[in-house]
Amino acid sequence: MKKSALLIVAVVAMTVGCTSTDQVTKNTIDQQEVLNKLSLEDKAHFVIGIGMEGFSGDNAVIGATRSLVPGAAGTTYPLDSLGIPAVVLADGPAGLRIDATRDGDSATYYCTHFPIGTLLASTWNTELVEQVGLAIGEEVKEYGADVLLAPALNIMRNPLCGRNFEYYSEDPVVAGKTAAAYIKGVQKNDVGTSIKHFAANNQETNRMNTDARISQRALREIYLKGFEIAIKESKPWTVMTSYNYINGTYSSESKDLVETILRDEWGYEGTVMTDWFGGKDGAIQMWAGNDMLQPGKAEQFDSIVAGVKSGKLAEADLDRNVARILNLVEKSPRFQGYQYSNKPDLKAHAAVTRQSAAEGMVLMKNSEALPFGEKIKNVALYGNTSYDFIAGGTGSGNVNHAYVVSLLDGLKNGGYTVSEELKTAYETYIADAKKAIEAALEEQAKKDPKNAMLVKFLPQPLPAEKLFSADELTKQAEAADIAVITLGRLSGEFLDRKVADFNLSASERQLITQVCDVYHKAGKQVVVLLNIGGVIETASWRDLPDAILCAWQAGQEGGNSVVDVLSGKQSPSGKFTMTWPVKFTDAYSSRNFPIDEDPRIDMMNQGQKGNVRNVDYTDYEEDIYVGYRYFDSFDVPVAYPFGYGLSYTSFEYSDAAVSVDGGSATVTVTVKNTGDHEGKEVVELYVAAPDAKAQNKPAKELKAFAKTKLLKPGESETLTLKINADDLASFDETASAWVVAEGEYQFLVAASAQDIKATLTATVKGQQTKAHDVLRPQTNMNLLKR
Ligand code: BGC
Repeated sequence: MKKSALLIVAVVAMTVGCTSTDQVTKNTIDQQEVLNKLSLEDKAHFVIGIGMEGFSGDNAVIGATRSLVPGAAGTTYPLDSLGIPAVVLADGPAGLRIDATRDGDSATYYCTHFPIGTLLASTWNTELVEQVGLAIGEEVKEYGADVLLAPALNIMRNPLCGRNFEYYSEDPVVAGKTAAAYIKGVQKNDVGTSIKHFAANNQETNRMNTDARISQRALREIYLKGFEIAIKESKPWTVMTSYNYINGTYSSESKDLVETILRDEWGYEGTVMTDWFGGKDGAIQMWAGNDMLQPGKAEQFDSIVAGVKSGKLAEADLDRNVARILNLVEKSPRFQGYQYSNKPDLKAHAAVTRQSAAEGMVLMKNSEALPFGEKIKNVALYGNTSYDFIAGGTGSGNVNHAYVVSLLDGLKNGGYTVSEELKTAYETYIADAKKAIEAALEEQAKKDPKNAMLVKFLPQPLPAEKLFSADELTKQAEAADIAVITLGRLSGEFLDRKVADFNLSASERQLITQVCDVYHKAGKQVVVLLNIGGVIETASWRDLPDAILCAWQAGQEGGNSVVDVLSGKQSPSGKFTMTWPVKFTDAYSSRNFPIDEDPRIDMMNQGQKGNVRNVDYTDYEEDIYVGYRYFDSFDVPVAYPFGYGLSYTSFEYSDAAVSVDGGSATVTVTVKNTGDHEGKEVVELYVAAPDAKAQNKPAKELKAFAKTKLLKPGESETLTLKINADDLASFDETASAWVVAEGEYQFLVAASAQDIKATLTATVKGQQTKAHDVLRPQTNMNLLKR
């Protein structure tokens, strides 16, 4: 690439504390000079990306830039004559997503498949999440990418959202803190992140054209809060706007969202890009401050050029966006001339994913079946997924990994014996089922060649569970010390889960019932393992097995991570970041969620908004009562509460105290390991506002959390949890302000939303912070109130 000496200034900088040999050369861009040299058309190209092969764009440009890192989602638009390179944008949350192999190249470019976002959040360990981010960022940098299109932190509004596996929590504090840690880790490598999808991308059905209708209060307190926390704490290089409308305006066309809230109120200084083909009118997106349209469409280019010519779009707004993209390019490793190796430390990262995955698993039930300890040697392994472990979800959040350790392999690696007979039976069954799926896909591709690629992108349903006769099971039980049954679920982008996916299938139910019956009669125990990306029904069957472990989708080392927990090498310390309802319909949002609707997949956003409830628009009638805020405030029984998770040991909480200094509060509590196994404990701090019910506030809300170090039996640690005055505010729509009501607050030190260990009280001073009166709903909604 030819660099113009005029525009790019090489600055020799000394990093603080470096020796003279650590001098770094920092290239800078003279933005004004670049802007002076660009025609209107150049600017319009620069802000819309390069297009996407087979969908949009100039194939010559696409070809040249796609080859930078094959398989990356996109790049910025190169301005070669000005020395401005295309910088590479690649998915996604569970690791870097690029092609693993390249034509005419014998090298491989596999990336580490780390655990899904939900598992990472379930660790409640922000230091660990930062370590995972650090490892992912190293792969981004060493494979030559510049910006990772992650993390994804939309709120788990409903258990059936197809992308919940990528997301962190139903609670904005957990989501925001987890995302901040992830971003800090990735960006320590001097590569960027793109926090997404801003905002309210809470369903996949008709995702390009659905209108999320939300009260200003719920938007501020629930759907924007996590972004606010993460953006302020970790300064992501980029923000990705969401596909959906919010109260009638596309996110990427909403100046109120992108300029007023994000930049003016939160002080964000980075670059904003659309999701792929998101939004419709290029000129309006530019005006709104959505700097970059990815991957870019001809209509957007035309709209921008025509917009400036007609005066609909001020050229100054376009220049502002160009400048913000230049800021991004300037920071990028590619512009800085970083010589990447294509050799990230995959071995070290395998260890990072193995350990982090084990820490996010949630022990749901344990009647002395776990850990295996010395008594267990032979394991009878049931469930298709035990042999074909699911590392993560499908779509852009998938990773091209080199391998996935199944539970079968994990047990063998851990020195356990598994029934060879069962192994052969399952492997044959699964191979046959996969052949049938492949054949069906090929058939479908022939019938509908246009959608062949898309179909491969979607989750393929797992076959029904293999069942055994009572005699077969009795024989197997005689030979084994314990049975493990894995239930699997696969979900992904484009599709919300169906109700049938939440519930157990008939074959799963029968398998659990029969295995438990036979093994219990033989005096043997049964463990159920959940290899899932989202919540499922448990209340009807959880009494049957002796232990249940939610392993989530634990990345490529999944089987090893699970065995680290089953064996007792690592005590489980994960806790749920979402409520597990008894029935799917118990979640209030299920009244307003697309249930088993046509997903309306629309790759290039060509559809128009219609008027079908929960498809074209969704009224968030539960308002702020999302997840535990609903179940707790309205006394609705749950299967497992938010924040729940067992350990192999037990903990005692003591000496809880609160002190208030002005508006901010500090809570301390001592946690002691009172059992005979080492372990870590997550402490959750909820706050109940004065007069909560009368003020239509939730019974309690999580405001902070902390996790102990690994405590040996008998060992204690005192944790300190801090809450700022602003954290106690709720959004008053009438005043358009964040308001802290003066009065006596309860500070609840808890092991879960339903396991309060200490209740402290303190008086907090009132305060009010003005905000803008923006993003008002356009229709009246029947909002839930206490
Ligand atoms: C997804 C984004 C992703 C982008 C690029 C979109 O379909 O919604 O999360 O980053 O594609 O692959």
